[in-house]
Order: sequence, then structure tokens, then C-alpha cells
Amino acid sequence: MARAKIALIGSGMIGGTLAHIAAREELGDVVLFDIMEGTPQGKALDIAEATAVFGKDVALKGANDYSAIADADVCIVTAGVPRKPGMSRDDLLGINLKVMKAVGEGIKQYAPNAFVICITNPLDAMVWALREFSGLPHKKVIGMAGVLDSGRFAYFLAEKTGVSVEDIHAWTLGGHGDDMVPMVRHSTIGGLPLPECVAQGFFTQEELDAIVKRTRGGGGEIVALLKTGSAFYAPAESAIAMAKSYLLDKKRVLPCAVYLNGEYGLRGLYVGVPAVIGKDGAERIIEFSTNDEEKAMFAKSVESVQGLIAACKTIDPSLA
Ligand code: APR
Repeated sequence: MARAKIALIGSGMIGGTLAHIAAREELGDVVLFDIMEGTPQGKALDIAEATAVFGKDVALKGANDYSAIADADVCIVTAGVPRKPGMSRDDLLGINLKVMKAVGEGIKQYAPNAFVICITNPLDAMVWALREFSGLPHKKVIGMAGVLDSGRFAYFLAEKTGVSVEDIHAWTLGGHGDDMVPMVRHSTIGGLPLPECVAQGFFTQEELDAIVKRTRGGGGEIVALLKTGSAFYAPAESAIAMAKSYLLDKKRVLPCAVYLNGEYGLRGLYVGVPAVIGKDGAERIIEFSTNDEEKAMFAKSVESVQGLIAACKTIDPSLA
């Protein structure tokens, strides 16, 4: 069987890291694409040379022409401008919307059968716009945010309790913004819901609240430390987990920005919820039960996503 083809649209910090992980995991042949001449070619060659050291047989190539992504099985989109210190994800909207138009048209022309994972921020609006511009089926275009946000949540819980990250299952819902909804009641340590963990003395309610707050601000915490860019290792790992579930038809349940068509009482927008990822893309959406407090938080997060989509429609009337 031919190797899978993975197109990375955007070859910056996340794109390069994606290429490195995809090659090390022998997930498929990799094409790095970027508008910067030399960057995708240089990264592709550097990693290709490393394959001889780590012993994996995959081809890597860099390109500045969309024809190079032809017939890709998976496209992972990081093209755009990352957040700088003091800049909100929303400030990025206008700039990255134009990028999504170019990328969506490129995918439509050259890789219409691909499974597309968008990472570019502001995520929930960009994945919506990318789907609109590409015209691909909604199930085949999803956004990476929840795996990263939930990963951060799980890591902070592991750090606090000393329990293995493998035995912590954390979930976040909603948009990929500071008002995301960490699902405390549905997140577990060794199967024990977090409120029970408080009752059993793993941590106090105040400590749990602080972890929830830190999770919400997780992206900003890294931006403040790096000063010249945003997170890239954990975002890349998160998108690889999603791509792997699709390519291997693993049917993992992963929190992703998916198109809602009545689920959670919403229609016509992308927002983060758990979904089964398999060979058909986002095959099924899992609906968590929500109490009044969670419903209110989710509604607030959805409202900001709706605001961003409305702003996209104003900036580019072809989306209206
Ligand atoms: N087409 C293709 N590539 C583009 C385009 C475009 N129209 N515009 C910009 N790029 C490229 C840049 O040249 C750069 O190499 O996208 C790349 C982005 O890489 P970085 O600036 O290193 O950003 P990165 O850290 O990888 O983050 C990418 O993911 O998490 C989000 O907020 C983050 O939106 C940002 C994206």
C-alpha cells in the first residue's frame, strides 16, 4: 500500500515540528508548504537527512506551490501569523482570514479528498472560514484546540497530584479562547471525577479552581514566556494525535472544533466538543450532559465564537 501523504500548510514553528513528528512516527510522506521561499525546502531537507539517523523511510519535500499538496490524505494548516505578546487571538482575525482564503482555495483545487486539520488562530472562526473557502465536507475539516487545552488541563492535574498523565482524562469544551470550558465533572483521575478528588483530598477546591484558571490562560502563559511566538510542541503533538486517529481509523474520542448541526442545540458553527475521529473524519459527536453553570459557560464561549464568525462575514462578504 502506498504511504499516506501529509501536507503541512505553513512551515513555521508548528509546521516544522509537525514534520519532525510525522517523520519520526513514519506516519507518511510529508510535504511542507509555505509562502516563504527556502523555509519549507530547508526544513524538509534537514528532517530528511535526520531520517537516515533515526531510521525511518519517509520522503520529505518543501514547496511554495500548491500543486505540491496534490492528492494529500491529510492537510494540517498552520499558515498565518501567530499571536505576539499582548495580542489577543481575535486581533489575528483580519490577517489570518485572508490566509484561510488562499489555503482553502489551494486545498479545494489540489486536495479535495483530504482530511483537514486547522490550527491557525483564532481557531474556531478560522476553521469555519477554511471550510467555507474549501467547500470540503464539514466532517473532513476540523480544528485543533481541545486536545491541546485538555492536554494542558491533564498535565496541570498530573503535576499537582503526582499521578501519571496516562491515568488522567481531562476535557474542555467550547471555543479555543480564554472562556473555554474545562469540564470539571467529566474529567477524571483514575476514573474518579475531579469533585470526588477534592473530597478525597487530592487537592483543595481552591487548588482545582487555580488549575482551571491556568488551563484557560495556558496559551497566553507560553506566549508571555517565549516573547517572540506561541506554543508549538504541544499544538503539534495534538494535531498529530488527530491525524493518526484518521489515518489509522482508530476512532479515538478527541475534543476538537467540529461543525455542529443540532448537537448541543447549535447549528452552523464550529466549536470544541468531543468527537470520534476515524476514516470518515469527525464521525460522531459526543454530547456531554451539562448542568446550569456549565451551560452558561458554554453559551458564553459560543457567543464569542459567533461574534468572530460575524466579524469574518463583515470583513469578507463572500462568506455571508
Ligand atoms: N500561505 C502559506 N503560509 C503562510 C501564509 C500563506 N498565505 N502566510 C503566512 N504563512 C506562513 C509563514 O510564512 C510562517 O512560516 O505560516 C507560517 C506560520 O508559522 P509561525 O509564524 O512560526 O507560527 P506557528 O507558531 O507555527 O503558529 C501558526 O498556529 O497556534 C496557531 O496562533 C498560531 O495562527 C498561528 C498558527
